[in-house]
Amino acid sequence: MTTTPTSALPQLPFPRPDILDVGPTYRTLACTAPINPVRTAAGDVAWLVTGYAEARALFADPRLGRSHPDPENAARISGSAVLGGPMGTAATEAADHAAMRKVLTPAFSARRMSRLRAHVEDLVDGLLDELAAHGSPADLHEVLSFPLPVLVICELLGVPFADRHRFSAWSAGACNLNDRAASTAALGQLFGYMRELVVRKRAEPGEDVISDLVATVDGPDADGRVAGLGAMLLFAGHETTVTRIDVGTLLLLAHPGQADALRNDPGRVAGAVEEILRLGAPGGGGLPRYAQADIDVAGVHIRSGDAVLLAVSVANRDPEVFADADRFDVTRTANPHLAFGHGPRFCIGAGLARIELQAVFAALPARFPTLALAVPVEQLQVRSDVLTGGLTALPVTW
Ligand code: HEM
Repeated sequence: MTTTPTSALPQLPFPRPDILDVGPTYRTLACTAPINPVRTAAGDVAWLVTGYAEARALFADPRLGRSHPDPENAARISGSAVLGGPMGTAATEAADHAAMRKVLTPAFSARRMSRLRAHVEDLVDGLLDELAAHGSPADLHEVLSFPLPVLVICELLGVPFADRHRFSAWSAGACNLNDRAASTAALGQLFGYMRELVVRKRAEPGEDVISDLVATVDGPDADGRVAGLGAMLLFAGHETTVTRIDVGTLLLLAHPGQADALRNDPGRVAGAVEEILRLGAPGGGGLPRYAQADIDVAGVHIRSGDAVLLAVSVANRDPEVFADADRFDVTRTANPHLAFGHGPRFCIGAGLARIELQAVFAALPARFPTLALAVPVEQLQVRSDVLTGGLTALPVTW
């Protein structure tokens, strides 16, 4: 795929000494060209796209997909069973994906989401009461960042909150980047759990998305398909948001002037959240695609079957698009970040994630104005073993 000797290619995951930055290797590559060949964590070759314009165009390009015409010989991205290699069938991917969007989109309609807003704000208030009651110091990850998205996704899907530690462990296990057998087993357990839930919802429907899906999806193996969709939502809908709450808090703690600006004018919260989404991408590596045809872009010839990684966190710092791109600025107005992707696979839960993040970052700085890290930032444990990255704990004082 390239004339660069492949043994010399930089290999993912790149070191990331500072969780609030993308790391030096990404920066060097982004300065070299918007698209560079790299070695994936699995040791295969892929195109890493760091330029904003190129990433946005490729997100929307129908010649890229998640499937591969010859999956056995596709470049592997990582050891994870989720996004670690090709998914789906090339011949039916577009139709399967359109059908998935058609079934899921109503569950996340703008109306349904705006009805949820007040409830999410109540949940945040309740968790902040618990934080206050716990007293300083506390682990913000444990008390706020983890339970909030999990409470919300559980209620939305009709999943018992009491099961949260089980499904979170499977969900985290499924995105283990290094152990394919463990990742596949965890995904199987998550799926099995959802299958049992689907059977229960069929017998006793509730006011929730899984019950709606049970009523909508028919045809062969309808329960299996609903379980698959439910597992995907449980997976996509919690860890992503958990990590943005952690990293958003860290960004505000690292920029006290910006936290003050937000506290003094809570109307800035929507802009602050967009800025957190732009800069606060905890994972690395990029969203995987496979070329379904030859593509010429930015002077690079991507051949049919090549793996492509859309490095959103780097594209979101492209100086061609964002003035003073590395600056965290809650008052930034033009902010067309790619944190939720772009094009046909644009995040279905973006509206929900925004509601959760806005509720957190409206309430947290106001109620805990003296919040500070309880340990030096270098001591925070950044996870490099899972797809979603993020922190294991966020010790704070106030
Ligand atoms: C801040 C939190 C979140 C972030 C940063 C995020 C990010 C993303 C991104 C980048 C994609 C596109 C993936 C790709 O193009 O390959 C995506 C897709 C998706 N997200 Fe989210 N997401 C978040 C929260 C959520 C929530 C709360 C839900 C649901 C409850 C959700 C459900 C989905 C689904 C179902 C897809 C797949 C869409 C498709 O393939 O058509 N996400 N998300």
